[in-house]
Amino acid sequence: MLLLALETSCDETSAAVIRDGTVLSNVVSSQTRLHEVYGGVVPELAVREHLRNLQPCVQHSLTEAGVLTEDLDVIAATQGPGLPNALLTGLKFSQGLAFALEIPWIGIHHHEAHLYSPWVRNQPLQAAFDEFQPNISLIVSGGHTLLVDVEQILKHRVIGGTVDDAAGECFDKIAKLIGLPYPGGPVLDQLAREGDPHRFDFPRPMLRDSGFDFSFSGLKTSVRYFVEKTPEVSVPGQARNCASVQAAICDVLVGKSVKASERLGRRCITASGGVSCNSRLRALLKKACLERGWEFKVADPALCTDNAAMIGILAWRKLQHGHCFGTLDADPLPSWPLQNL
Ligand code: KG4
Ligand code: ZN
Repeated sequence: MLLLALETSCDETSAAVIRDGTVLSNVVSSQTRLHEVYGGVVPELAVREHLRNLQPCVQHSLTEAGVLTEDLDVIAATQGPGLPNALLTGLKFSQGLAFALEIPWIGIHHHEAHLYSPWVRNQPLQAAFDEFQPNISLIVSGGHTLLVDVEQILKHRVIGGTVDDAAGECFDKIAKLIGLPYPGGPVLDQLAREGDPHRFDFPRPMLRDSGFDFSFSGLKTSVRYFVEKTPEVSVPGQARNCASVQAAICDVLVGKSVKASERLGRRCITASGGVSCNSRLRALLKKACLERGWEFKVADPALCTDNAAMIGILAWRKLQHGHCFGTLDADPLPSWPLQNL
């Protein structure tokens, strides 16, 4: 089965070609530079950029895979959740192409795709579902923080989410407070490598709670007060102190993931989404799993952030399992809850 997948839910335009679970190409055009000056994603600009990039990305991915549009058997696209008009661009482009080629189309849930990206093996880039085991999956991005119990492939239950800011949003807002450029997460991560994570004691919100929900807005406020009281932190040279901020965010993410695994008897934790590129988060999750004899699975950073390969891999898997195709007039679902699947 030769499948073309598109992803346009936020600020990455991406197209991938998948043949029977193997990724032949995965082209990602990031708009980070475009939105940098505004300190966050501007939806109208994102849409305009998707419209500009979609056709070249698709062409590029087909060429890299060495296939023609006529060779395609099916087209998949992210149907939700995401920015409404950004979703609309990729969705309607993919439906139009499927209509013209007279081939079926399938809409994919962005977060459900994130759940399986840690199971992609490198060289060749391929879904390693034969290695799958029940796991607790942490999805952490700029817009979402979710803890999901994945009992088997295509069977999951959302057990926690954020009650306010997402983890990536927290990284970005705190980075902005201390004068770092957007997106702050990667910059803060880089600077934190030289800092002392125990230098300042920031709150670990909801860590001791019995449930699996998260809250990050209080931490952001606590850093704001701290910056006001301790102005040297806002001096770029002192930015390494953000190691303490990073430690607070990571302790909560790791603590909750471990507690969920223990309580639900899972022996594997997976992580995906932009924040799962964070070096401390990866190291702490790996250590926690190693100490308990569990497995830790995380994709290469390029597959942690938004990409069409994960959309295509899930679409392929769903079709293999007899899931139905979507209709060509299906609309985007900007706030499609993962628990509804
Ligand atoms: O998944 P993603 O590319 O896009 C969506 O939000 O959907 O995630 C972007 C988020 C941003 O908030 C960015 O600051 C954060 O992921 N991020 C990181 C790191 N790399 C990306 N946060 C902490 N450490 C990193 N190394
Ligand atoms: Zn995402």
